[in-house]
Amino acid sequence: MSVNVTAKTKIAGIYGYPIEHTLSPRMHNAAFKTLGMDIIYLPFEVKRDSLREAMKAIKMLNFIGVNVTHPHKTAALEHLDDLTDEAKRIGAVNTVVNRSGRLVGHNTDGVGFIRSLREDYGFDPKDKRIIVFGAGGAGRAICSALSQEGPERMMIVNRTLDKAEVLAEKVGGAALGWDTPKLKQEISEAQLLVNATSSFLNLDHECISERLFIYDIVYNHRRNAFVQRAQQKGARIADGLSMLLYQGALAFELWTGQKAPLEVMRGALHKSEK
Ligand code: ATR
Repeated sequence: MSVNVTAKTKIAGIYGYPIEHTLSPRMHNAAFKTLGMDIIYLPFEVKRDSLREAMKAIKMLNFIGVNVTHPHKTAALEHLDDLTDEAKRIGAVNTVVNRSGRLVGHNTDGVGFIRSLREDYGFDPKDKRIIVFGAGGAGRAICSALSQEGPERMMIVNRTLDKAEVLAEKVGGAALGWDTPKLKQEISEAQLLVNATSSFLNLDHECISERLFIYDIVYNHRRNAFVQRAQQKGARIADGLSMLLYQGALAFELWTGQKAPLEVMRGALHKSEK
């Protein structure tokens, strides 16, 4: 994409490590271009020990804001001037807005996830049995958002059980260990299974049925053996592209104050998949 960068061009971007697989620049640059905005979105490789300096750079270089992704969603909190109530409740941010030199932390992951569930997959979490794997930044945002939709039951599974217990207590769910025999039964009774870990799931296929909707926030999961097998068993599958789109659209609106060109952004994401 050719961009006419001048001294007036504003900068947004994404901080993360590793960052080379991010699709966010394509999505946001396509949106800025379509709306004729003089803004460029860049990926920045920021390691854990560079986060403090990188957060200062937002003010120093007058960026309009950034997204923060793995492993900074929680660590970024201490470098912000303000947090939205939602970011406070979740304890993680994915979007930072530079409001005249004050850095405001938002979390658009949870709302993005629910919009994706409802609008792209027609799934209403109300009164459903849900099982979520992961209690990191993404897991906390997703569980927090799901808990407000009135599920019948929400089980939270995490490799480190303590984190699942803390989260379950906060959002009114129940925690479950990864290796407990009860897990299979829970999966076979669930209507929605979310993988909100940063890793591929590898579960026993026995308990997967065609009644299950598996939403894997990892977005290149098609090569994943578990997902392929679940699909063969008739389970409905979603990847993280649609959540990426909706959380990005909200971030775009926070930075620019303008409505995000959703279909342009979606088109850019799907093009980048090929
Ligand atoms: P993110 O912001 O992407 O959620 P994170 O906060 O570092 O990143 O959380 C990563 C999540 O993936 C955690 O739930 C983590 O489990 P732990 O809390 O036990 O660390 C989970 N995770 C990462 N690698 C994993 C693996 N190989 N197997 C299972 N879970 C994994």
